[in-house]
Amino acid sequence: MEEFDLVVRDGWVATASEVFAADVGVRDGVITAIAKGLLRAKREINASERWVLPGGIDSHCHVEQLSGMGIMCVDDFYSATVAAAFGGTTTIIPFAAQHREMKIPDVVADYAKRAREKAVIDYGFHLILANPDETALNIDLPAVIREGITSLKVYMTYDKLRLDDHQLLDVLAVAASEQALVMVHAENHDIIRWLANRLLARGHKAPKFHAVAHDPIAEGEATNRAIALSRLIGVPLLIVHVSAREAIETIRNAKQRGAAVYAETCPQYLFLTADDLDRNGLEGAMYCCSPPPRDKDSQDAVWAGLKDGTLPIFSSDHAPYRFDKTGKLPKGDATTFKEMANGLPGIELRMPLLFSEGVMAGRLSLQEFVALTSTNHASMYGLTGRKGAITIGADADFAVWNPNREVTVTASMLHDNTGYTPYEGRKLKGWPEIVVSRGRVVVENNTLHAERGSGQFLKRGTSDALSSPEGISVAEAREALRGLVDVGMEDERSQTSLRPRRSPTRPTLTCR
Ligand code: URP
Ligand code: ZN
Ligand code: ZN
Repeated sequence: MEEFDLVVRDGWVATASEVFAADVGVRDGVITAIAKGLLRAKREINASERWVLPGGIDSHCHVEQLSGMGIMCVDDFYSATVAAAFGGTTTIIPFAAQHREMKIPDVVADYAKRAREKAVIDYGFHLILANPDETALNIDLPAVIREGITSLKVYMTYDKLRLDDHQLLDVLAVAASEQALVMVHAENHDIIRWLANRLLARGHKAPKFHAVAHDPIAEGEATNRAIALSRLIGVPLLIVHVSAREAIETIRNAKQRGAAVYAETCPQYLFLTADDLDRNGLEGAMYCCSPPPRDKDSQDAVWAGLKDGTLPIFSSDHAPYRFDKTGKLPKGDATTFKEMANGLPGIELRMPLLFSEGVMAGRLSLQEFVALTSTNHASMYGLTGRKGAITIGADADFAVWNPNREVTVTASMLHDNTGYTPYEGRKLKGWPEIVVSRGRVVVENNTLHAERGSGQFLKRGTSDALSSPEGISVAEAREALRGLVDVGMEDERSQTSLRPRRSPTRPTLTCR
């Protein structure tokens, strides 16, 4: 009997720290050997002149989700996971999204059922928390965290989702006591509302005004405030979809002062600018997301943040809406920038875009690419050891990349349901030709080989951001604050007992 089910032979294998020539042997869905000259297997893949990289983890994508504006995104768990797989991603962590009137256990059960029936690669969930009432804070959140949904997203903007600072503090305190990671959408709601109202009152309705209303100052202010709130509680924080220089510099400064703050960015902030929203008619709606794409200066700041560890997570923020009445244009030609669905597709191109413009263009090393697209996500979201690395004992999730394959992007070659891509016509170098998920070859010869429903739910552990033995800075660990937190608070808004289990800590991420 062969020792391996699968051997990937003669490739260059990359992890977040090294690149080396080796074969990779797989048995029962797990990597069991990494060495030269492995014995024969039932299935062999010739990877000579190919790079064997960990399967991507896309830790920010919206799938079968009703947006805060009440618009359903167009990908379900089948189309989204198929598109992810074709782009070299083998794990996704989308959202189970609570709207204010919904009960959290029902929300989680609903998303779990839909994903179980359709996903072709492995998946976890973050919870979106829109109503942090007493039941949510004291009963439902601890329960979902125990079930392996160990991170949650909160919003500082959007009428139907946003939390005020008092509510954010309540959530951060529960995250500290229950060991969950809080992700925050940081934009100042009132700045955006004030600007949007003025623009509309003056007849400025076109998509390009979305980028004017979502000024970088709104992002910078909310980023600073979110960090301050997390420092007060002394719990790590992850700021999602960071777009602009001001927010990046705020995060970098806070980190230098010892704050346990982490941040994510996305392809749209590297490859698009606000000029893309300024197109004929309503075409600019295809480029509207929040925060919006910025300018060349912010693009440079995003590249620098990826390089120096200020932005250790590169996700897609895939939020697909069609360019029609179901998505971007709910009021047809009369749709204003306030009414368009916010969000861009990107789940399939996230890795190829960064590979081409980062690695092949010489801006990033291969190890940095692996860290940014896979290993750091595993560390941040409680999957270390199982996902995000080519290492013995980990799930056999990897992609065989052809670094020399040239691809011109068209919407028709992609597998999501959006019907357009913001990256149409872009020439990319490097492509994931074979994709393996838990030892199963799921993509080969541009063909899918995975069954609907064959992806598995990942019960995630605690983020390394919370469980690292490294101590947090003295400022964050102030005993006086601990005392206040331990006593609990009594006021008209909350009786939540705030009791961190242990000192919050910083993770050791591969990207500084
Ligand atoms: O515009 C965006 N990013 N839409 C998706 C929802 C979110 O806030 O991430
Ligand atoms: Zn967001
Ligand atoms: Zn998002």
